[in-house]
This record gives sequence, C-alpha cells and structure tokens, in this order.
Amino acid sequence: MLICYTRQITHFFMTIDMDIQLLQSELEQNHPREILKKIHSRFDNLAISFSGAEDVVLIDMACKLKLKPFVFTLDTGRLHPETYQFIETVMKHYKIDIDIVFPDTNQVQKLVSNKGLFSFYQDGHQECCGIRKVEPLARHLSGFTGWVTGQRRDQNKSTRGNLQIVEKDNTFTGAHGELIKFNPLCHWTSDMVWTYITALDVPFNTLHNKGYTSIGCEPCTRPILPHQDPREGRWWWEGTDNKECGLHPPSTSN
Ligand code: ADX
Ligand code: SF4
Repeated sequence: MLICYTRQITHFFMTIDMDIQLLQSELEQNHPREILKKIHSRFDNLAISFSGAEDVVLIDMACKLKLKPFVFTLDTGRLHPETYQFIETVMKHYKIDIDIVFPDTNQVQKLVSNKGLFSFYQDGHQECCGIRKVEPLARHLSGFTGWVTGQRRDQNKSTRGNLQIVEKDNTFTGAHGELIKFNPLCHWTSDMVWTYITALDVPFNTLHNKGYTSIGCEPCTRPILPHQDPREGRWWWEGTDNKECGLHPPSTSN
C-alpha cells in the first residue's frame, strides 16, 4: 500500500517537473509580455509580487494586456516613506488594487519586546525577515497556484545566476499544494528595465534618484556608489554572500 502511494506521489512530481520543463522551453524565447499573456491564459489564479522597478514593468505590461492581475506587496512596517508613496502612485496610475500584506502582529510584538527594533544589526537579518517578509508571503501565496516575480539573473550572479523563467517553488506551497514561480524578466538587464521605464513613462520609486538601486526596508537599505554591486546596499553590515532574505532561496535549475 505504502509502496503504491509513494509511486503515485513520485509520478505526480515527475509530471509537474516535466510540465515545467516543457513550459520553460516554450517560454524561453518569448518576450516578457508574451510570457505574461501565456501564463495568465493557462493559470487562472496568479499573483504578481510588487516592490520595485522590475515589478512595475510587469504590472505595466499586464495592465496593457488587460489581464487584471492580482498584485500584492509585503508591508514589513519598516519601508521608506518614498516606498509607501510609490505603492499609492502605482495603484492610482494603473487604477488597480494592490493587496497590502502585513506581518503577524504577535510575532512582531514578541521579536520587538525581546530584542528591540534593530536586532538585525546584532544577530543578522534572517529572523526579522522571517517574521516580516517570509511568513506573510507564505500565508498570502497559499491562496494562489502561481506567483510572478521581477527577479533577474544579473541582480546577483551567485544566488540568481541560475534563475529560470518557470520554476517549481520548493519553499512555499500554493492553494492546491504545488506552487509555480514565474520570473518573466529573468533574462533582462537593468538597462533594459530602465529603458522600458523611461520610454513608457512608468512610475518608479523616487529613491532611485538618490542613488538607491535595490530597495528593501529602510534600516536595511542604503544607496550605493558608482561601480558597486547593485545589491551592495542591502544588509550592508553583513557579508556579500548573504544578500537574500528568504523570499527567494538561491535558484537551482529545474
Ligand atoms: S529581496 O528578496 O532581496 O527583498 P528583491 O528586492 O531583489 O528581493 O526583489 C525581487 C523580487 O521579489 C521582486 O521583483 C518582487 O517580485 C519580490 N519582492 C521583493 N520584496 C517584496 C515585497 N516587499 N513585496 C512583494 N514582493 C516583493
Ligand atoms: Fe527586518 Fe531588515 Fe528584513 Fe526588513 S529587511 S524585514 S527590517 S531585517
């Protein structure tokens, strides 16, 4: 009985893996706009995660294609004032609702009571990110079958260098168990993103005018100097090999 059950499960995961590989090879040559169109026609319950410049590019494309995307953002409670303004601007510009997802109050309360508001400078960002970002994301994604991110390979060669357009999400689970993760801008460079934004008058976070490249929470993000790595301003007091917060574990190819 157990052997039979195990076989069924193994078969199920093999099928998903094969489907992902097929979809990946189909989408590999497509423009992100085409990718968004195709995935929205095949999955009826997709969420676009929104925080930065790349995500607005995806929202812009999705809105122009009239896909009526479900967009959400994680409000950690520690964002810059400019980021809150930016969220509001995007909602108004595209006339869309953005689900603002908050952390669990009890967990935040416990962390802050025990360790204060800046514990990450002492013992690393993982605990705070776990409470303010990862848990709320897991909770939110459990209502969807797939999610779309603005990740790109060249944002971080060591953790995102292997990113694929379609991946099985091995960290979070969706409404029916498995969750698919789409990274339509996987092959885009920063220049391509900014050419799109400038050419099409897409709204962006005004912090970019002050030298910020990758933007996260206020206490954990600072501007960078020319020629520094774009993610160098994130959790700058920690080593260069620790630039992920748990939303996106280092990608391995499917
Ligand atoms: S992070 O993991 O280091 O914070 P990064 O800022 O590079 O990620 O963003 C990569 C992608 O993760 C974004 O394009 C977006 O899809 C998603 N993401 C990051 N932060 C948030 C957030 N606060 N809310 C929703 N999605 C987010
Ligand atoms: Fe906490 Fe900093 Fe992570 Fe934001 S980026 S959740 S403030 S550790």
